[in-house]
Amino acid sequence: MKRVFINDVVARDGFQIEPEFIPTERKIELIDLLSATGVAKIEATSFVSPKAVPALRDAAEVMAGIRRNPAVIYVALIPNARGAERALAADVDEVVMVASASETHNLANVRRSVAQSFEGFREVFDVLRGSRTRTSGAVATAFGCPFEGVLPDAQVLDCVARYVDLGVDGVTFGDTTGMADPLRVERLARAVQSRWPDLPLTLHFHNTRGMGLANVLAGVSAGVLRFEGCLGGLGGCPFAPGATGNVCTEDVVHMLQCMGYDTGVDLDRLLAASRRLREIVGHDLPGQVVKSGKVSDLHKPPAELETQR
Ligand code: COA
Ligand code: ZN
Repeated sequence: MKRVFINDVVARDGFQIEPEFIPTERKIELIDLLSATGVAKIEATSFVSPKAVPALRDAAEVMAGIRRNPAVIYVALIPNARGAERALAADVDEVVMVASASETHNLANVRRSVAQSFEGFREVFDVLRGSRTRTSGAVATAFGCPFEGVLPDAQVLDCVARYVDLGVDGVTFGDTTGMADPLRVERLARAVQSRWPDLPLTLHFHNTRGMGLANVLAGVSAGVLRFEGCLGGLGGCPFAPGATGNVCTEDVVHMLQCMGYDTGVDLDRLLAASRRLREIVGHDLPGQVVKSGKVSDLHKPPAELETQR
């Protein structure tokens, strides 16, 4: 059975866009539930400016409060060296730096040019030198920008090249506002893998235009092994107009398991965590399998059919 790796990012991508502050203990409770599901990585929070993203101002408390499963890699997003210092103090397993392929989105998101972001990442590496912390580079708007539209492949691949020069352990393509389509996913994924065959590539889709699961499948057929999703299908970038939820982790896992892939995930536990998330955020979520049940959850035939037999 082919193994694929599932990362959940709801505690960062999901909670960062929630209008109501999620209490720290509820964040911790949810991450602890996720830790027991078999996901490979959990993006637990971000160490960004609390003025920019007040929803995650409790990042240090969250990291200090969770019960870590040694089989899980706990990740935090950082925009700069200050974030790296805070992440190091919180002993995260991995930091994910974020820069956009699009200049305009990078300015809106982190208030600097793409070149300035990558300059800043050199300082991130200075901060992390000698630590056990792994690094990953996220390319936001990799499949399109809400301000600039679809970007040339070369511009996206240039970001990968800059991350590789810095020495990251892996790269993630973020489809910030769901502009990817399956053919482009396949083309860009193949381009990365042929140019950097040893570089782990992770795909991060938003389902803004209903193409999320199709894009995951396109990634799978291009040979990508790592996918991110948000429990319940929550998520979105506060600095991208029209941003909506990520692909729903449990829907991705359900689809891949139906197709015979080994995700390492206990789907029932994931669905239970999704039901708890629904209670925590207090509103409906886009995820579908949690509402419909798994394809294997059958219903009793109508009673009148029984009497006709
Ligand atoms: N953690 C905490 N505080 C930080 C910080 C970090 N990583 N980086 C900067 N700050 C603080 C500074 O100390 C300063 O605080 P002060 O106003 O009390 O003096 C303030 O933020 C401004 O610092 P500056 O370096 O001038 O940053 P900025 O105002 O140009 O903002 C970012 C740049 C990157 C810090 C900010 O835009 C940001 O955090 N963006 C996050 C984007 C995000 O999370 N997007 C969603 C995920 S992709
Ligand atoms: Zn995202």
